[in-house]
Amino acid sequence: MSDTAYLNGEFLPLDQARVPVLDRGFIFGDGVYEVIPAYSRRPFRLPEHLARLRRSLAAIRLANPLTDAEWTRLIHDLIARNGGEDQSVYLQVTRGVAKRDHAFPKDARPTVFMMASPLVTPSREVVESGAAAVTATDFRWLRCDVKAISLLANCLLRQRALDAGADEVVMFRDGYLTEGSASNVFAVKGGCLLAPPKNHLVLPGITYDVVLELTRAKNVPTEVREISEDEVRGADELWLSSSSKEVLAITTLDGKPVGGGKPGALFKVVYQAFQDFKRKVMRQAA
Ligand SMILES: Cc1ncc(COP(=O)(O)O)c(C=O)c1O
Repeated sequence: MSDTAYLNGEFLPLDQARVPVLDRGFIFGDGVYEVIPAYSRRPFRLPEHLARLRRSLAAIRLANPLTDAEWTRLIHDLIARNGGEDQSVYLQVTRGVAKRDHAFPKDARPTVFMMASPLVTPSREVVESGAAAVTATDFRWLRCDVKAISLLANCLLRQRALDAGADEVVMFRDGYLTEGSASNVFAVKGGCLLAPPKNHLVLPGITYDVVLELTRAKNVPTEVREISEDEVRGADELWLSSSSKEVLAITTLDGKPVGGGKPGALFKVVYQAFQDFKRKVMRQAA
């Protein structure tokens, strides 16, 4: 049975959803998206995801086609129509269908698409062994804070990691840490958590905020500041965070062990805190 998707006002089987080839998402990558995890069929941090969607839409000068209340109702409806307790909701809004022209069309209607798939978080084995990462120069554009669907650079970078037998890239721009191809990156040195600032060079991750909230609640010394490549290479621990990977240790960088080559002590604290927090939030929402 096909998963259920949502396209421009109707729910339908995903394999029957069709978008015209002149959609500006297809032609120009002219659109934005969100990925929202749902645990026990309840979307996690939905207001924060919708706020980021509003910011992305404003950045590309596209009016939000739905109110937050409408998004919320549709997302709950989509989750209810799909199988599985834990799901990953993908939504995207493009500038719609128009004759191919770089200039914005005057009267196009945005295309609104959503689908849900099983949320696959890292297995216990992966959490215990950690991820392998390779370094790369960040060659993306200068609006990485916008969750744009044009992800060609991110795809090239992720594939570079996979070709090197790794899982993710850790990127630097002008000698400073930015993020991964689909994750934020943190470093730990001498018991202090280092996080790159949320600016135009990184995506303001929803999980990034959760990680900082949890570590601050545990009184972990934290510095949000630019982190040099040397500091990353000399870190005791490296972590990545995203809606699907949650928080995961990076245990090798360019084939060399990070710290002791195993998930570090602080990682274990934040990982457990994340799992506890998730369960608590879900109980409250029930
Ligand atoms: C480039 C990039 N950075 C960071 C993240 C993490 O964001 P979030 O925690 O909201 O999933 C993502 C998620 O896909 C991403 O694509």
